Amino acid sequence: MSCDLLNLATPGVAGLEPYQPGKPIEELERELGLKDIIKLASNENPLGAGKRARSVLKKTCDISRYPDGNGFRLKAALAEYHGINPDQITLGNGSNDVLELIARSLLTPAHEVIFSRHSFAVYPLVTQAVGARAVVVPAKNWGHDAQAMRKAVTKQSRLMFIANPNNPTGTWLRKTELRNLLQSVPEDLVVVMDEAYFDYVEDPEYPDGTGWLRDFPNLVVTRTFSKVHGLAGLRVGYGISHPDLADLMNRVRQPFNVNSLALAAAEAALQDQAHIEKSIKVNRQGMRQLIAGFRDLGLDYIPSAGNFICVDLKKPAQEIYDRLLHAGVIVRPIANYGMPNHLRVTVGRPEENARFLTALGKIVGD
Ligand SMILES: Cc1ncc(COP(=O)(O)O)c(C=O)c1O
Repeated sequence: MSCDLLNLATPGVAGLEPYQPGKPIEELERELGLKDIIKLASNENPLGAGKRARSVLKKTCDISRYPDGNGFRLKAALAEYHGINPDQITLGNGSNDVLELIARSLLTPAHEVIFSRHSFAVYPLVTQAVGARAVVVPAKNWGHDAQAMRKAVTKQSRLMFIANPNNPTGTWLRKTELRNLLQSVPEDLVVVMDEAYFDYVEDPEYPDGTGWLRDFPNLVVTRTFSKVHGLAGLRVGYGISHPDLADLMNRVRQPFNVNSLALAAAEAALQDQAHIEKSIKVNRQGMRQLIAGFRDLGLDYIPSAGNFICVDLKKPAQEIYDRLLHAGVIVRPIANYGMPNHLRVTVGRPEENARFLTALGKIVGD
């Protein structure tokens, strides 16, 4: 073939590196022939989905028909849950989808997008894909520096992404810092508060962005069913915003972006308070277990409000990651987040955390 197809890419896509997901269990089984692998790499719920979501999935659902493209029932359930109107909701194939819809509906190559260093990898991806300019603000103590983010605003700024808590660092901004930031940015700058890990946070100073939507029409709050609800494999998340912003996102959304099973399971999961509470409890205990283990091993870590934590190995972590793989433990190397000496580990069930700590202890003790 004489034509180099790669040259056909738009300038934004030409420079894109695909998102690097956590290694799937089956891939490691194939590569190393291991059995009994544990995966603490993608911040999934170690308990899986709750009873209610599972029982809905078992009931025959007519998968030969297209799903309800407007997600009427799920939107109604979410509207009631959050005390908002359904027209404020944008459903996504995971909240990643919503992040992309926001970028596609608002950005041109003339715009700048502000986000923090060591923040979620999807922000640069969706920014670059549409040819907008990423403005990466240096972090403070691994987390968002709200003041520096404010200072980064220019006339070209159209969007700001704030992961609260942040992935991969687990850091979070408190109410006052974040509210001050929202109050100080221009009204034509849309601020996304990405609250994928909202349910896990126990700090009373942690803000709930959904309570601020009336005050800030330029705010979009995103949430997901992938974390505390344990539905990561089904792909369903949502944005809540002013109806006009939801209108824009719904214009670019694929007509059936959320499938029938995901819609039904998410609606059931939202009502499963027992599963949510149990998941939070398991996370709280597992987080304590991991922190105690790191202390025993003399390892530093970044305090985290999510369902994952970064441990500092004080040297390039790739080799330790590889050795953990050979022990059947998948965690996440985060050199691509500018953190080559850290590994991010998802809080698992007690026995998974123990197995990870034992394997890590053997490796760092060698
Ligand atoms: C901060 C943050 N936002 C959004 C997402 C996207 O999750 P999903 O697309 O599964 O809803 C993740 C997933 O890890 C995340 O860490």
